[in-house]
Amino acid sequence: MTILLTGGTGFMGAWIVRTLVEKTYKPIIYDLRSDLSLLEDAKGKFELVQGDTLDLATLIQTIKRFKITRIIHAAALTSPPNPLTGVKINVEGSISVFEAARLPESLLCFGYLSGQEVFRIFAEISPKERCQRLCSRNYIGS
Ligand SMILES: NC(=O)c1ccc[n+]([C@@H]2O[C@H](COP(=O)([O-])OP(=O)(O)OC[C@H]3O[C@@H](n4cnc5c(N)ncnc54)[C@H](O)[C@@H]3O)[C@@H](O)[C@H]2O)c1
Repeated sequence: MTILLTGGTGFMGAWIVRTLVEKTYKPIIYDLRSDLSLLEDAKGKFELVQGDTLDLATLIQTIKRFKITRIIHAAALTSPPNPLTGVKINVEGSISVFEAARLPESLLCFGYLSGQEVFRIFAEISPKERCQRLCSRNYIGS
């Protein structure tokens, strides 16, 4: 099983890398940044490809090169400098990753990090029912 993790050097990404490494996987991080300060304890246990989610060609090349079978998409701009840049990275960048994910016939699973805000609208119901309702709205639930 080969896992591509976008945004793997970031806050959430680093936690995911550690969890995967603990389970003996060697994730392929795809991130704009090469700053590995959050991943000191996992050095040597992952591969880093420095790339932009907007760069579909490099995404596809990376998926082919590492024969990726799982993708976790955690790359995002959580505090964009302006709305246009936010849309560019968070919407267009995500669409680019979704497009790339359609490529490998071997792709078995795609995970996407959303936010807890999508659950707040259903605060009064159980977590299981929330998931069912959100999943029936659309594929990322928000
Ligand atoms: N931090 C939280 O508590 C939290 C909670 C729930 C959900 N999330 C979601 O998780 C995702 C990641 O959040 P985070 O807190 O880890 O943010 P972060 O800023 O720490 O990490 C984001 C990573 O994405 C990378 N990135 C940004 N633009 C990129 C691009 N165009 N191409 C490739 N890489 C790019 C950054 O370099 C960075 O390493 C977001 O969607 C956020 O909404 C975060």
